[in-house]
Amino acid sequence: MGRSIFLALSLLFRLGHAAITVYHAQGDQAAFTTSASGADPTSTGTYTGPAAYNPTSLSAPPLPSASVLTTLPVQLQNSAKGSFIGFSIEMSVTNQVLGNNSTLIQVPFLNLMANIQQRAGSVMVRVGGNTQESAVLVDTLDNGRILEKNLTGVTGTTQTPPLDYTRDLLYLMRNISSFVNVHWFLGVPWFVTTPFDTAIVRASDEILGDYLLGLQAGNEPDFYTLHGHRGGTYGPNDYLGEFSDFINQISSDGSDDTGRARTVLIGPNLASFAWTPQEQWDTGFVDQFADNLAFLAVEKYPADNCALMFNTGGEIVDPQTELPKYLTHQAPKNIVTRYLNDTAYAQTKNKPFLMFETNTASCGGFLGISDSFTAALWGIDYVLTMAHSNFSGAMFHLGGQNVFYNVPPPTNESSFHQWTVGPLYYSALVMAEAMGASNQSQVLDLPIDGISDYTPVYAIYENGVPKRVAIINYMDDSTGAHDVEAVISISGTTMPGEVKVKYLAATTVVQKGSYTWAGQTFGYHYESDGRPMGDEDIKSVVCDSAAQTCTVKVPAPGMALVFLTDDSSTEGAGVPSVTFATTARTKTRNTVTADPSVLATSNGGRLSDHELAGTSKPPNGGVGLRASVGLVFVGVLSGVVLGLLGRA
Ligand SMILES: *[C@@H]1O[C@H](CO)[C@@H](O)[C@H](O)[C@H]1NC(C)=O
Ligand SMILES: *[C@@H]1O[C@H](CO)[C@@H](O)[C@H](O)[C@H]1NC(C)=O
Ligand SMILES: *[C@@H]1O[C@H](CO)[C@@H](O)[C@H](O)[C@H]1NC(C)=O
Ligand SMILES: *[C@@H]1O[C@H](CO)[C@@H](O)[C@H](O)[C@H]1NC(C)=O
Ligand SMILES: *[C@@H]1O[C@H](CO)[C@@H](O)[C@H](O)[C@H]1NC(C)=O
Ligand SMILES: *[C@@H]1O[C@H](CO)[C@@H](O)[C@H](O)[C@H]1NC(C)=O
Ligand SMILES: *[C@@H]1O[C@H](CO)[C@@H](O)[C@H](O)[C@H]1NC(C)=O
Ligand SMILES: *[C@@H]1O[C@H](CO)[C@@H](O)[C@H](O)[C@H]1NC(C)=O
Repeated sequence: MGRSIFLALSLLFRLGHAAITVYHAQGDQAAFTTSASGADPTSTGTYTGPAAYNPTSLSAPPLPSASVLTTLPVQLQNSAKGSFIGFSIEMSVTNQVLGNNSTLIQVPFLNLMANIQQRAGSVMVRVGGNTQESAVLVDTLDNGRILEKNLTGVTGTTQTPPLDYTRDLLYLMRNISSFVNVHWFLGVPWFVTTPFDTAIVRASDEILGDYLLGLQAGNEPDFYTLHGHRGGTYGPNDYLGEFSDFINQISSDGSDDTGRARTVLIGPNLASFAWTPQEQWDTGFVDQFADNLAFLAVEKYPADNCALMFNTGGEIVDPQTELPKYLTHQAPKNIVTRYLNDTAYAQTKNKPFLMFETNTASCGGFLGISDSFTAALWGIDYVLTMAHSNFSGAMFHLGGQNVFYNVPPPTNESSFHQWTVGPLYYSALVMAEAMGASNQSQVLDLPIDGISDYTPVYAIYENGVPKRVAIINYMDDSTGAHDVEAVISISGTTMPGEVKVKYLAATTVVQKGSYTWAGQTFGYHYESDGRPMGDEDIKSVVCDSAAQTCTVKVPAPGMALVFLTDDSSTEGAGVPSVTFATTARTKTRNTVTADPSVLATSNGGRLSDHELAGTSKPPNGGVGLRASVGLVFVGVLSGVVLGLLGRA
């Protein structure tokens, strides 16, 4: 395979379009109707709902024709950052994902973040994307909304309507951080620079304070010319000049009184379209703004589905053809290798380097790939490859329910149906555990002799000591003939009597939903309230004391995380488990009630493991059992946070 696929993918990289989401549909839920093209496997014409819930699966790809190494000698050398994965939420869908307003938070979201926090200690979430670029902070919107698209001015192929939002969006974010340890990235609108609209600088400083990790200065400025936001000669020096103008403006217009904003900026956020990061470094950008740049960042998707999603007239990509390209270690390497020079450069400048926005494919992802077990395995391999390559973090992008890759895609039905948790959320959960909360972990992509691209193996070290081993098996063979056995040894160390193993499992790479991580799942479509379901199942593998090896089997397909020491197998070195139950609800009235245990524990902004209960009425008839998904109302009474669940 090698060469032809590499060429195919690099072509996609070059043509890769900026991340674009279908923006019109949010709120009014325009259904995504699958195209009738022969290239589209949904063309049976039966499914007309939102893309995120399209049940159509692809066929599992054929097995490799040549024999592959299935016994992997994993020899670790006994010598050698915490919350690596975050989420990027398109600004225009934050009211679907985070909540309606600052007092009506989506409980499933809290739970999903709490799961990660428990393992990694904290979570970073970026609110932004194309829609940040023309977002306008307004005093109020109709019906108390926090977000509204102004469809009056929509033009261009990106179909990105300007967004109006209120300060309550930032209060919503701040209130979420009181429940779970989420820290935020926001973006500064960058289409208009004379002067910049700096309202978000002041508001985020006032409202988010220390929960603001960084402010993105422009989103993919290397696409500005293509999309008509700048003239044809716009290049890295122009971006540098604007960055300088921006700092001058916020330093003098009072929007950055605390001086925080001008020290937490993120640039250059390139998609390597019109110019490369190297060309930006060559302008002296990082040295000139050494005191202003908290992070260097890029954005990249391995492919795009713009032709189908936006009917651009381009060639529609057949997901069945693309599928095998995601089921090999070459896939993440093809994206990440291009940045090795940049991550090395960032280290010399002492700046963390982020993959600020990514996913399986831009323009909504691919049916059958982005929403299947394939994406979960690919996501783990991708993130481990980035960690190995000296990235400091990566954020998977969520764009609403009209895309295939949501993590999770709530709908207007989430008030009686539950959420659908996508495969990349499982990747994030597994990675949070693989990296742990020590902030000391280092990842090594193990160079095993004769290993194929179907079975990448990584070692995770803490303070130079190997702690965990991650093994991915991309092959799909229910006969067991392509299961792999990783034979783990550590030179100069006595192996333990047994090791603990957690599996990420599904029956086939094309499975949609109901994957399990250590036996627990978030179910199929509309089945999750954000808490893992089922009993945790951690396997023990007895080691061979004579050979000093521990042999761990990994099914085809599947992924195993092996915990080499006891201290690293305790799930969640992060913080105690926090969950937000959605079983209690108020049907119609916002009667404020408080669970005494919430009152007892809420002051530190951290709730213990209990329900956020309310003394509420059961749901009205006709809504059904699934009426249990709630939004949490956060009210303030006598200075104490009250939890109260309501069915919207
Ligand atoms: C949030 O929305 C709920 C339900 O519409 C409403 O009762 C509440 O007052 C709103 N909160 C704010 C701060 O606007
Ligand atoms: C919506 O956009 C139009 C055209 O750009 C503008 O004139 C109008 O003021 C905007 N409305 C709001 C509420 O922002
Ligand atoms: C939540 O947001 C509201 C603003 O609507 C604010 O008054 C309240 O203090 C916030 N609660 C927390 C816990 O931050
Ligand atoms: C890699 O980085 C070095 C040092 O910064 C630079 O001189 C060189 O041009 C870069 N190579 C590429 C291919 O960008
Ligand atoms: C990551 O950084 C380290 C230290 O600078 C370097 O030795 C290593 O080669 C880098 N890894 C990759 C894959 O570039
Ligand atoms: C959600 O929106 C779709 C499309 O507008 C509509 O058909 C459906 O009835 C809505 N569902 C609910 C529960 O409001
Ligand atoms: C890891 O880093 C985060 C953020 O810098 C910090 O809050 C946390 O305490 C650190 N954890 C450990 C175990 O040092
Ligand atoms: C939350 O927002 C949605 C969409 O705007 C709306 O349908 C729903 O009624 C709101 N919930 C409450 C409790 O106001």
